[in-house]
Amino acid sequence: MSLLFHGGDIQSASAIYGRDPCQWIDLSTGINQHSYPIPKIEQSAWHQLPYLSPKLTTAAASYYGAHGCLASSGSQAIIQLLPSILHHLGNARAAWLPDVGYQEHRHAWSKCGDINTYSGLDGALAAKQIDAALEDNLIGHLLIINPNNPTGERFTPKKLRAWAQKLHASNGFLVVDEAFIDNTPSASLLTEPLAKNVVVLRSVGKFFGLAGIRLGFTFADESVLEQLAKELGPWIVNGPAQTVAIAALSDTLWQSNMRTTLASQSLQQHNIWQPAMTALGAYHAGSHELFRSFIMAPKLAKKLHQSAAKNGILIRLVTIDSTTSLLRFGNVDLSQNIHNVSALEYCHTWIQQES
Ligand SMILES: Cc1ncc(COP(=O)(O)O)c(C=O)c1O
Repeated sequence: MSLLFHGGDIQSASAIYGRDPCQWIDLSTGINQHSYPIPKIEQSAWHQLPYLSPKLTTAAASYYGAHGCLASSGSQAIIQLLPSILHHLGNARAAWLPDVGYQEHRHAWSKCGDINTYSGLDGALAAKQIDAALEDNLIGHLLIINPNNPTGERFTPKKLRAWAQKLHASNGFLVVDEAFIDNTPSASLLTEPLAKNVVVLRSVGKFFGLAGIRLGFTFADESVLEQLAKELGPWIVNGPAQTVAIAALSDTLWQSNMRTTLASQSLQQHNIWQPAMTALGAYHAGSHELFRSFIMAPKLAKKLHQSAAKNGILIRLVTIDSTTSLLRFGNVDLSQNIHNVSALEYCHTWIQQES
């Protein structure tokens, strides 16, 4: 069994660094620190088998738009299943993925066949690479993470739709992972009807801060959704998760307030790290309202990662290649205190010591 290492693994970090799991400032994920407040959960949600509630379907349609849709236990469940289904329904040629991006995609596609990569760090270069590969008919299926995690790279819906149209001629699918798009819903492909060869993945974990309920949605043609549903089997989204999601997806006031809050804190969050990173010789690779990433030499990245962890601050280290690593910083919870010091001050003190 080979499992990829992910951010947010406080249990492993606690075991490695001998620290109580409650004593971390966890910046290693892009999960919103301000989780949607959990509503009252009826006893029946725990007691009954979780058939899909029509209220969840309605709430999802109001939040995401009226498209063919399948709920799953996180978008991760679908990421694992899609490659074999699309190879079967579409074509079995090489899939193209970002070289830097959420690694579960690469893991899943490489189990099923050939893969090729485009730049995950440089959007303009990536667009050129994809355009050229489409021109030469080299792309079987195209996977885009929009915005990309951990680099924050984005493509416009117009560009994505043009690529989908080109792929259509060769029975290719465009898969767009929109796990981090909720801050800017107008940038989603779901603002318009989807072409038959487009699959959009959404996660309830990131913006709503509800990664623990394991809920995601897939939007695609009925033929794709049917195959996925067959593979997933029954009762895929548990009852309590459905209750929480119905409330969260329907709560437009919370959603718009949260977008405003995250946007207004974004510069402050960036400035916690930027000056020190620049002084250390790192450079800014990209940002999102829920994280910002810096590129640097592997030795420096490892040193900072370890020093932070020894101080109870968990950040995400991504090895890109033998000369380049990336550190991704999630949002500091401005209301958290650790050892009677605010998390913000604690982080400031640590990074100033390092620079
Ligand atoms: C880009 C991206 N897509 C999908 C996922 C999977 O999220 P979930 O299974 O919680 O919906 C992650 C998790 O970190 C991610 O970063």
